[in-house]
Amino acid sequence: MAGKEVTVLWLLAVLSWGSGGKVLVWPADNSHWLNMDCILQELVVRGHQVTVLLPSCFLILDPAQPSPFQFEVVKVPITKEEMAASLEETFYFFFYKERTLPAWKSIYEAIQIMYKLENLTKIICDEVLKNKALLERLRTFGFDVFLIDPLVPSGELVAEKLGIPFVYTIRFSIGNTVERHCGALPAPPSYIPATLSHLTDRMSFLERLKNTFTYTILDMMYHYVLWGSWDQYYSDVLGRTTTLCETMGKAEIWLIRTYWDFEFPRPFLPNFEFVGGLHCQPAKPLPKEMEEFVQSSGEHGIVVFSLGSMVNNLTDEKSNIIARALSQLPQKVLWRYKGKKPEALGSNTRIYDWIPQNDLLGHPLAKAFLTHGGTNGIYEAIYHGIPMVGIPMFADQHDNIAHMRAKGAAVELDFNRLTTQDLVNALNTVINNSTYKENALRLSKIHHDQPIKPLDRAVFWVEFVMRHKGAKHLRPAAHHLTWYQYHCLDVLAFLLTCAAIAVFILVKCCLFCCRRCGRIAKRKKD
Ligand SMILES: *[C@@H]1O[C@H](CO)[C@@H](O)[C@H](O)[C@H]1NC(C)=O
Ligand SMILES: *[C@@H]1O[C@H](CO)[C@@H](O)[C@H](O)[C@H]1NC(C)=O
Ligand SMILES: *[C@@H]1O[C@H](CO)[C@@H](O)[C@H](O)[C@H]1NC(C)=O
Ligand SMILES: *[C@@H]1O[C@H](CO)[C@@H](O)[C@H](O)[C@H]1NC(C)=O
Repeated sequence: MAGKEVTVLWLLAVLSWGSGGKVLVWPADNSHWLNMDCILQELVVRGHQVTVLLPSCFLILDPAQPSPFQFEVVKVPITKEEMAASLEETFYFFFYKERTLPAWKSIYEAIQIMYKLENLTKIICDEVLKNKALLERLRTFGFDVFLIDPLVPSGELVAEKLGIPFVYTIRFSIGNTVERHCGALPAPPSYIPATLSHLTDRMSFLERLKNTFTYTILDMMYHYVLWGSWDQYYSDVLGRTTTLCETMGKAEIWLIRTYWDFEFPRPFLPNFEFVGGLHCQPAKPLPKEMEEFVQSSGEHGIVVFSLGSMVNNLTDEKSNIIARALSQLPQKVLWRYKGKKPEALGSNTRIYDWIPQNDLLGHPLAKAFLTHGGTNGIYEAIYHGIPMVGIPMFADQHDNIAHMRAKGAAVELDFNRLTTQDLVNALNTVINNSTYKENALRLSKIHHDQPIKPLDRAVFWVEFVMRHKGAKHLRPAAHHLTWYQYHCLDVLAFLLTCAAIAVFILVKCCLFCCRRCGRIAKRKKD
């Protein structure tokens, strides 16, 4: 953000102290912060006071920098380096290692890595919850709402402990397990694909089988592996028997980071708002040197290429395969990449440490977006109507690209089996074949044609919760039911029992009558 904007926001923040509401924030690191940041800045503009509860190992925020937000820094015995190393390890595992291992080993290691992250999270959580002075200070602030990114547990626990109504901002949980179980969001496995299953809403019999299986496996993983120790932790802290899931279900509003341009149509609840793309903005002018390079592409236009902020280096082999493909395009290519410059880099390709991705995608000369399929980037492409070539790697990226492919706005490539020719063909296809551009533009029109902009809707619901101390009127009674009541299995069991009794009586009567008739007939014969 430019210095001037920070100053203006900061001034607004100072001026609005005392008026407006008080917002407490539980952030998540890296690209997750981007969405949260947009909502918070808008809240500051509207005169609310925003306080971010920041663990000292948080990577992308520095409380010493000028900011429109206040920071309540929680000293934790984890250094930034340790945090970065742990995230790096997780990333390395899912990016390179997971595919090279046999399935059982890969699941085992994934669980070990999750346990390690869970330990880090618990350390942070302990520092907050065992710090009486901090809790007391937060209580006296009198916050009206707690905005939480539930990437890792414990935000909701702090909210419960402090008695502040809370709002989630979330893209997805693995297999939608959190939304389904804790948020009571209906998701029939017949046409709602589990996230990370790579499926779409049109499923064959085998795919539905796979989807149902995925839901079941993930539910078991959550219940028995990921949630188990947290349930105890939550019960200990709150001093009553509860579970992580039950506590998460207390969220007043769930702000989901997608919208119907991206999602397949699905049932949802009144306390779920789909606010995807709230960070997107019209393109701003490019830096001069970059604009000159873009203009030099002439009628062919440009390709924007980024594998996200997490991929800083590729193997020499991969980077050369990619560079060779890019060098065969008539377009100019802007590639965000921090690794070693590949030898095969063509004269039409330039590498940058950082690119203004949204401004480039919004440039009139932008023809295609080569992407790893992160949600933020996909939404920028939807916003500007740019067709995509996806090279998904991990997390929700396969699903994101599967959605875009199903909607005809993207071609998907497999990173591990990437060849130069495939990449050239894919890029030529989305650029030459106009159906991709038309579909991307259609999604863009859907995105822009909303009665209220996503950011305004997100902020409205946060303010609603502040004004009304919650949004309990939107809370479905499903939260009070057990799983067998929810599915009416008790009713079914009752009806089956009645039917069984009726059949039993009927059969008995028939037998009785038959025997009687038989006896009468026999007597007559005699
Ligand atoms: C997590 O912490 C527990 C208890 O402190 C410890 O026993 C366990 O080995 C740790 N697990 C990992 C993967 O670091
Ligand atoms: C990426 O760079 C780090 C050091 O900066 C190195 O240890 C690692 O092996 C590199 N990874 C690849 C795939 O080249
Ligand atoms: C796509 O167009 C480019 C020129 O813009 C051309 O070089 C390439 O051969 C075309 N590819 C296909 C598959 O038509
Ligand atoms: C363009 O792509 C669409 C969708 O993949 C395909 O049906 C159509 O045949 C393609 N058109 C040409 C001219 O290749």
